[in-house]
Amino acid sequence: MTILREVITVKRPVDEAFAYVADFTTTIEWDATALKAVKVTPGAIAVGTRFLVTCAMPVGSIDIEYTVAELEIPNRIVLSGKSKLFDIEDTITFATVSGGTKINYQAEFKFGPLVGSLSGMMQSGLDKMGRESLAGLKKALNNRFPAPKYDGAANVADRLIIPKLARFTRHGYTRGRKHWNPISADLRGKHMLITGASTGLGHASALELARRGAELTLVMRNPIKAKAVKAEILRETGNENVAIEIADLSLLAHVDALAERLLSAGRPIDVLVNNAGALYNERLETSEGLEASFALLLASPYRLTLALKPLLQAAGRARVINVVSGGMYSQKLSVKNLVSDTSDGYSGSVAYAKAKRALMVVTRHWASAWRGDGIAVNAMHPGWADTPGVQTSLPLFHAITRFALRSPAEGADTIVWMAAATEASKLSGQLLLDREPQTLYLLRGTQEAPAERKKLLQFMEDFAPVDAPNDAAQKQAHAG
Ligand SMILES: NC(=O)c1ccc[n+]([C@@H]2O[C@H](COP(=O)([O-])OP(=O)(O)OC[C@H]3O[C@@H](n4cnc5c(N)ncnc54)[C@H](OP(=O)(O)O)[C@@H]3O)[C@@H](O)[C@H]2O)c1
Repeated sequence: MTILREVITVKRPVDEAFAYVADFTTTIEWDATALKAVKVTPGAIAVGTRFLVTCAMPVGSIDIEYTVAELEIPNRIVLSGKSKLFDIEDTITFATVSGGTKINYQAEFKFGPLVGSLSGMMQSGLDKMGRESLAGLKKALNNRFPAPKYDGAANVADRLIIPKLARFTRHGYTRGRKHWNPISADLRGKHMLITGASTGLGHASALELARRGAELTLVMRNPIKAKAVKAEILRETGNENVAIEIADLSLLAHVDALAERLLSAGRPIDVLVNNAGALYNERLETSEGLEASFALLLASPYRLTLALKPLLQAAGRARVINVVSGGMYSQKLSVKNLVSDTSDGYSGSVAYAKAKRALMVVTRHWASAWRGDGIAVNAMHPGWADTPGVQTSLPLFHAITRFALRSPAEGADTIVWMAAATEASKLSGQLLLDREPQTLYLLRGTQEAPAERKKLLQFMEDFAPVDAPNDAAQKQAHAG
């Protein structure tokens, strides 16, 4: 038998340190040997919860199946692990000390007969691994990371279209994650509102943020899907703090009614994720007479965010996350052409990209205008992720790129980071991909003039109230 013991002290309250470690999937963020860590059983962490952790060992990678054997929240957790080469028992205790928490970590290895004879030789390697892992845990829990900056090397790549587009694929995610810092922020009590949480990126973000303890309000248009998502989140994460709001966000009357309900409930919003979206291959008009891409992708998040500003302000340091698209790189802002008036020459991808480009401009405007209000406003684009939206709107693109696409969780990772990471609150006015600020323009000639930005902001500000939809439609048609 080989026993490793390490003791660290971290500057975090005991319940936060415990919650982070007890969800053993976080080993991927702090254990230098962990290659993959997944929770196998659904529900809140409890005795019997199982995790599968794949570790890099000198003999190659091995899978360790851990089961929570004992749990005394927030002071002690015992995990028993089984693998082909050894059994392991991790006993982790947490005690409040002045200024933080003392964590005592003991790992007891029982090697099988094949490896047993070598265990003495392996002791020093195991000791080193133990020390490095606990140093990683200390770093994760002390949670002092700088905000990422737009970097010059990436800037060179920005001028090379193909490498830039390659980063939209799963390859960009895999490359990015090598440098990422752990997210150990305590999200309990943080109220986050996510639009479009029934599928794709919104759904993946909701699941992950719920797993991390956030209190969610999920906006969906389909009550049946909404009920199923709420039940799924409870089943998978044990998080009971999930509220549902039903709204068709392409209808401004629904946006207004949603905002009114939220305002009258008066619950501060720490994070607003404007994620709902769709690419309409055929020109559609909403029942309010608005072109659907414009309505859903720009007018709706614009109106919702403005209406919810008092609740964002009330949260103290709130974050708005606007989900845009790499597709916006193809378009220059043009207020005149923001809305397609007729089906003639209508292109779904162009209408989509123009609306996303405009939302990026609005994001930057709010970021600077709301600096004094304690609201950080950023945009992100997920790269290319395999979601129902991509499958149905872009079937050819999906068929060609299928194997290179990110999973919804990989596409949603930056949303989760922007909502959860402490250092992300230091950013405002940025466009992010894979947790890194990105260039706003990729193609020559797509940079708008300041006057065009001003025109957009004026147009959006003047946008007709929803009780006069015809005026709104007229304004659209005569924009610019
Ligand atoms: N996937 C990608 O590669 C990619 C790339 C760039 C940008 N994006 C952006 O990422 C966001 C999420 O897209 P996704 O790929 O996850 O698409 P998705 O799987 O189609 O999910 C879109 C979500 O938006 C909701 N939604 C659509 N129209 C709505 C409406 N009128 N009212 C309320 N909710 C509505 C959908 O609800 P229903 O289930 O009821 O339809 C769904 O929950 C979008 O803003 C999209 O533009 C995605």
